[in-house]
Amino acid sequence: MGRNVMKVKEKKDRYKVCYMSGDDSGFDMMEGALLVLEAMDLPIDWVRADLGWCMWEKSVTKFGEGSPKCNTVPPETIESIKNTDATLMAAITSKAGVKGFKSAILQMRQLFDLYINLRPAKTLPGIGTPLKGDPKIDIVMFRENTEDLYAAVEFHPLPKEHFDLHPGMERFRKSGEVATSWRVFSKEGCERIIRAAFEYARESGRKTVHCGNKANVIRETDGMMKRIFLEVAKEYEQYGIKGIEENADATAMWLIKNPQDYSVVVASNVFGDILSDEASQLTGGLGFAPSGNIGENTALFEPSSGSVPKYAHKYRVNPSAMLLTSKMMLEYLGLGEDGAKIEKAIGEVLVENKPGTLTYDILRDFRGDPGWEKNAASTIEMAAAIAGKINPNFKGDVLEKAKKKVRDMCDWTKTVGFE
Ligand code: IPM
Ligand code: MG
Repeated sequence: MGRNVMKVKEKKDRYKVCYMSGDDSGFDMMEGALLVLEAMDLPIDWVRADLGWCMWEKSVTKFGEGSPKCNTVPPETIESIKNTDATLMAAITSKAGVKGFKSAILQMRQLFDLYINLRPAKTLPGIGTPLKGDPKIDIVMFRENTEDLYAAVEFHPLPKEHFDLHPGMERFRKSGEVATSWRVFSKEGCERIIRAAFEYARESGRKTVHCGNKANVIRETDGMMKRIFLEVAKEYEQYGIKGIEENADATAMWLIKNPQDYSVVVASNVFGDILSDEASQLTGGLGFAPSGNIGENTALFEPSSGSVPKYAHKYRVNPSAMLLTSKMMLEYLGLGEDGAKIEKAIGEVLVENKPGTLTYDILRDFRGDPGWEKNAASTIEMAAAIAGKINPNFKGDVLEKAKKKVRDMCDWTKTVGFE
């Protein structure tokens, strides 16, 4: 058995963590998260790096449009990720139809072979679920993160010889335009994500692992996934863990009907992308949805949410997703007790429901406040309320000093990269 990749490679007294604010409101959420982490006196030294649309623009200015050197990820950022113990990343902006543009996060997943996309969905006090009976939800999704349609093996137009590859292609010959995207699964790819899910279940005392697949239709790729899942499940029977394989469309339905029956879920890349958004919607939506991209050598933690460009640098966004993401990172570093404090403090602020402590989305979507726009707290105000629950001394001058420090750390006019 290999090492436990869910934990940092080397235990240390102090860690170097790379932080990347991403784009637009990403800077605001990172500032909020760092403020709370600042209140905790953690053994972490922060290293700034940048990536995303802001870096694409910087590279185009530097190298000129069309240059192969243009990228959303500068070489400095790759170095920083390599030279630190873990990475905390805020949301980035994607733009469709820009020639040469490649998603920064997709590049990082491939480059660092971050094959586990860990996406927990847990009901929070004061938020609950939109479902009847408000069931308790505590799901940990293991989404495969490097293969499947994300292998990006695509053809358009289709080379002539591809029509001869399979009799099933015959009926497409007469079409004027055909495109294909290959769904590539490897045995190793299936096995490592499935093993990660079962190992996690064993370590955390969870009793079931579901695998959502479409082996009934997509026989080769999902057929392999299902076969390996059932083989690995047998090994874990001795720990009292039950492996349940089912059709992914049924998983989508049952997640709404009986979410309390799910604990660990493993899925291929595309199905996991969809199922994890669904699960997050059951527990507060993207404002509360964390995720971690984990591989053998490093891990990169990012919220599932987007960068909300319309609110860029307006401090409107909910800091919770970024904070729950930080919690996951702390667990990875072996600082799980500190991570748990963050989740507890978020819950306390949500339940307390004090004026001036909750962002607009919470007032609008979960409190039914018609005055949500004017009553909304800023990202930093909500973060300060959360920080105050963890460290009661975090007020007055101490708070103001910390606010200034994290604002400088996330100054969006001073990005690092392509120097
Ligand atoms: C996610 C996102 C990404 C994905 C996009 C932004 C490339 O949807 O992290 O789930 O498809 O993986
Ligand atoms: Mg997604």
